[in-house]
Amino acid sequence: MKIHVTDQAGVEHELEGLEGWRVMEVIRDWGLNIKAECGGACSCATCHVYVAPEWFDKVGARSDDEEDLLDTVGDVKPTSRLSCQILMSDELDGLKVTLAASAA
Ligand code: FES
Repeated sequence: MKIHVTDQAGVEHELEGLEGWRVMEVIRDWGLNIKAECGGACSCATCHVYVAPEWFDKVGARSDDEEDLLDTVGDVKPTSRLSCQILMSDELDGLKVTLAASAA
């Protein structure tokens, strides 16, 4: 299954990932500019992405911990998510996200 990721320079990448992978892991393993310092433990906010509006409802709700972390970054938007908290699935095949500056 594929995700479409726009990097901080505005370049779009089509990345292949497997079911159950975290979106963060797909972005990181393909070598895009994402720090993901905590490795997916929902404790760093350096995997911050903006989900395309048409996908936002499909990726599920933020947890309280995720909300708290997003409050700590300066470039949060209504469609902000931590990409380590989104798991790849058939329903999300074709997902579009944009890497936030605070992920780099
Ligand atoms: Fe640290 Fe997502 S990788 S919160």
